[in-house]
Amino acid sequence: MRWGYAKKRYCSVMSAPGRCSGAVCNAVQPEVTMTRNHPEPHLVDDTLGRAYPIDPPRWRSDDGNPLSISELPGINRKAIDASQRSLWRYHAALPMPIEHPVSMGEGCTPLIPRPWNGHPCLFKLEWFAPTGSFKDRGASVMLSLLRQQGVGAVLEDSSGNGGAAIAAYGAAAGIRVRVIAPAYAQDAKIAQIRAFGAEVQLVDGPREASEAEAVRQSDHMFYASHNWHPFFLQGTKTLGYELWEDLDFRPPDNIIIPTGAGSNVLGCDLAFRELMRVGEIDRLPRLFCAQPANCAPIHAHFQARPGDVVAPQFAPTIAEGTAIKHPVRLTQVLDAVRRSRGGTVAVSEAQIVAALKRLTGMGFYVEPTCASAAAALDLLWERGDIRPDQRTVVVLTGSGLKATAFMTDTFGGAG
Ligand SMILES: Cc1ncc(COP(=O)(O)O)c(C=O)c1O
Repeated sequence: MRWGYAKKRYCSVMSAPGRCSGAVCNAVQPEVTMTRNHPEPHLVDDTLGRAYPIDPPRWRSDDGNPLSISELPGINRKAIDASQRSLWRYHAALPMPIEHPVSMGEGCTPLIPRPWNGHPCLFKLEWFAPTGSFKDRGASVMLSLLRQQGVGAVLEDSSGNGGAAIAAYGAAAGIRVRVIAPAYAQDAKIAQIRAFGAEVQLVDGPREASEAEAVRQSDHMFYASHNWHPFFLQGTKTLGYELWEDLDFRPPDNIIIPTGAGSNVLGCDLAFRELMRVGEIDRLPRLFCAQPANCAPIHAHFQARPGDVVAPQFAPTIAEGTAIKHPVRLTQVLDAVRRSRGGTVAVSEAQIVAALKRLTGMGFYVEPTCASAAAALDLLWERGDIRPDQRTVVVLTGSGLKATAFMTDTFGGAG
């Protein structure tokens, strides 16, 4: 069920949705869709509030800031398309119709109740995805839009899982993909990207060097970044809708998320706020970011008092997927966590390894990156931040098969 259209126009250079900034207007002036006071979905510069149409494709604002989709009305349970066994069952919650989704059955992942430390807990097995990580949600939605917009080749930077997801969905969509990856990335992850036919460019230096190289190349190839492009978050948003449906249309009390740039945090924030807006739920679940203590900028900013200088220290971590020193949407992630009355947790390398061993001992073959969320659960209970009788979801985001070298060192191989 989609919302209807009323013929209004808005200036594509706006200081706030619906209000002209007085700046020179772009030639493109999209029609405005109005229902329930929601104008036609458009892109909004998160920092300056300037609006842009969704077409033509763009990944950041003219001022170099990240973009979000304007506020959407949300969908109720009747709008779920039960004929789809994938995240596309929530297609009505997307900003615009996608005629031919690029889908390989992503989403509809298991939510499994298991005791953790003797207390009930729910594990969301997000590594049940075509490429073995949650990134398939974002890749499916983002590449579906880009194909619809006529984009034939894309650029991505990634330490592994994002690159694999975009390479796979690029292959499925007939879109050429170049992935810029740090030279230290795991062989197993780079092999997976190459297997999908993507071109791989390895860059020496830290993770940020790959992002800088991708931004440099973005003037001649479309940058389909999982951290920058706002439609990636429309894909991770379906995690929130799915948890709500999994739990008989109720929100959980707490969601613990392994967090680097924060795409699942922001996706859940979008979904549950939309569900509040449409009247399906009456409270937000509390969102908790789990970060490795060796790379915990979101935790450092969240814990800081006003006026504090925040200068997190960084060291290598086995939770490599979350080793993001400068999250592109830091302010938004902090806002989402605060709005939900959630929090952040930093976990040591030893706590991550211990949690990984307990998870694998339960039959969950996950990668170390997401074991940080299970480790965080122990700390949250210990600190009394959440109660064991509450309904808590731990999101497990990546398959252990992605981290073969680490798993072999930890558990032993044939030799
Ligand atoms: C397995 C896994 N979990 C969690 C994350 C963190 O996701 P985000 O950076 O969107 O917070 C990543 C990112 O690459 C990942 O690969």
